[in-house]
Amino acid sequence: MKIAVGSDHAGLSLKKLIAAHLLANDHDVVDVGTHETTSCDYPDFARRVATLVASGEVDRGVLVCGTGQGMAMTANKVPGVRAAVVSDTFSARMVAAHNDARVLCLGERVVGPGLALACVDAWVATAFEGGRHGRRVAKMEGGDEG
Ligand code: RB5
Repeated sequence: MKIAVGSDHAGLSLKKLIAAHLLANDHDVVDVGTHETTSCDYPDFARRVATLVASGEVDRGVLVCGTGQGMAMTANKVPGVRAAVVSDTFSARMVAAHNDARVLCLGERVVGPGLALACVDAWVATAFEGGRHGRRVAKMEGGDEG
């Protein structure tokens, strides 16, 4: 899978860990930044990752900030992108299976590294189920299917 990763300063350490983990598991990783610990603005990186996902240049994206929340709020403003903040593996699996969330958001100040990697693994390993969930996602996107 080709996966874009992005963070602000508050998510940099966890993003690096996730990127290394994904590479070690044979995924292609595109790191859009930040690459520095100096304070920066999370929307800049959320928008880059979400745009890559929306355009199909990457399959999925992972965003990390302090809470994951600002990243998700920003990514969800890019048309066609569904981003979800998770802090447990059940939700990580379900947002892929039922909501077709192709952007996963994590908070470095919320989850420890072990749990964060477990969430990423659960999400990456899970495909969208389609069917009735496809109908619901289409409605979410403003379609009248169903
Ligand atoms: C940065 O201090 C923090 O606000 C940011 O990383 C994120 O948590 C915002 O949603």
